[in-house]
Amino acid sequence: ARTVVRADTGAVTVGGLDVRDLAEEFGTPAYFLDESDFRERCRAWRDAFGSEADVFYAGKAFLSRAVVRWLHEEGLNLDVCSAGELHTALAAGMPADRIALHGNNKSTSEIRQAVEAGVGRIVLDSFQEIARVAHLARELGTVQKVQIRVTVGVEAHTHEFIATAHEDQKFGLALADGQAAEAVRRVLQLDSLELLGIHSHIGSQIFDTSGFEVAAHRVVGLLRQVRDEHGVELPEIDLGGGLGIAYTSEDDPREPHEIAKALGDIVTGECRAAGLSVPRLSVEPGRAIVGPTAFTLYEVGTVKELEGLRTYVSVDGGMSDNIRTALYDAEYSVSLVSRTSEAEPMLSRVVGKHCESGDIVVKDAFLPADLAPGDLLAVPATGAYCRSMASNYNHALRPPVVAVRNGEARVIVRRETEEDLARLDVG
Ligand code: LLP
Repeated sequence: ARTVVRADTGAVTVGGLDVRDLAEEFGTPAYFLDESDFRERCRAWRDAFGSEADVFYAGKAFLSRAVVRWLHEEGLNLDVCSAGELHTALAAGMPADRIALHGNNKSTSEIRQAVEAGVGRIVLDSFQEIARVAHLARELGTVQKVQIRVTVGVEAHTHEFIATAHEDQKFGLALADGQAAEAVRRVLQLDSLELLGIHSHIGSQIFDTSGFEVAAHRVVGLLRQVRDEHGVELPEIDLGGGLGIAYTSEDDPREPHEIAKALGDIVTGECRAAGLSVPRLSVEPGRAIVGPTAFTLYEVGTVKELEGLRTYVSVDGGMSDNIRTALYDAEYSVSLVSRTSEAEPMLSRVVGKHCESGDIVVKDAFLPADLAPGDLLAVPATGAYCRSMASNYNHALRPPVVAVRNGEARVIVRRETEEDLARLDVG
């Protein structure tokens, strides 16, 4: 989100709106998402990859009907990984042939819904799934387009929980032990499946392009093997998502055009060298599109100074609206946005209101010593994997997502109410 500090009051504005007014109107905690920023990032990805490639936004990062409409308008495709995401996509008018379905354990019902809707591709993740999708497609009298997800054996330098291309994890079929090649062989024999190509996703929040380059190289190697063994040239390669974003000033992320160039060069160069026609490339950025576009606004409730240690600043949200700090030891920054302060900076920890001490939003931050109840704090870069991973722990009500653009703010996902929660409790 592009924020500007007002010279007169020190209050921060986004999309031309003062955060104090936003807090007043929409309450806290709340996520504010800069729609123009989102759309520009979509365009940057499209422009970087050009018309020879497709950009699939990864809906798991954050999905709502408004987001689907923006993606559609900006010419992006959509990767979904559940029936829930598929419904949202279809309900908001994303054409089914621009949707890809992912998942390591798609249910029969999810596969059926996707095939019936006519999704553009299902990314196959196991031998059982190959048989399952083939069976359902045959039953429904159609030929389903598919890709096969392979694990290329790259150790992505990111948190263990979000690295996905090393061998010992649950996703995909390994290149190294021949399972990927065996999957290709099986799919090619099935009349109800059309094999579009090979898919690789090496992990998330990755800063250097070398892992993607190794993945591209190995996937092209498989295409060559497939051509040699079966005389078939697969027309597509998908190299997944995973490009990192800056959460703090220490992070130095790559830009879409850098990754596009690196991948384009390898795929084009190696395919030409192998005498293969160059396949259509696609990528699946989630975080890199939506992550930087939003911030979470919190109100300070209590401030507790622990002599010689640090100051604990409690805000009105916490691990229920941002689990990433507790789960991945993620780093965030935070700033006072409702006023200026000349007070000394003090070493602070921003914590939530949940019943455990791991409920930390920002581990270490310097905040002014005169911080007081009622002050507003903003945590930037919370557009990805915060609302989408939010929970009702302690019966917290999940915060709204408010889109801001050109001086206007509108709720795109409303705040949960006690009634929403009560409706589910039928005992
Ligand atoms: N494609 C596939 C097949 C994926 O599994 C993912 C993310 C993406 C694309 C998008 O990756 P991105 O560009 O957003 O890095 N909850 C974790 C991240 C989990 C990512 C799961 N898969 C977090 O909060 O860091």
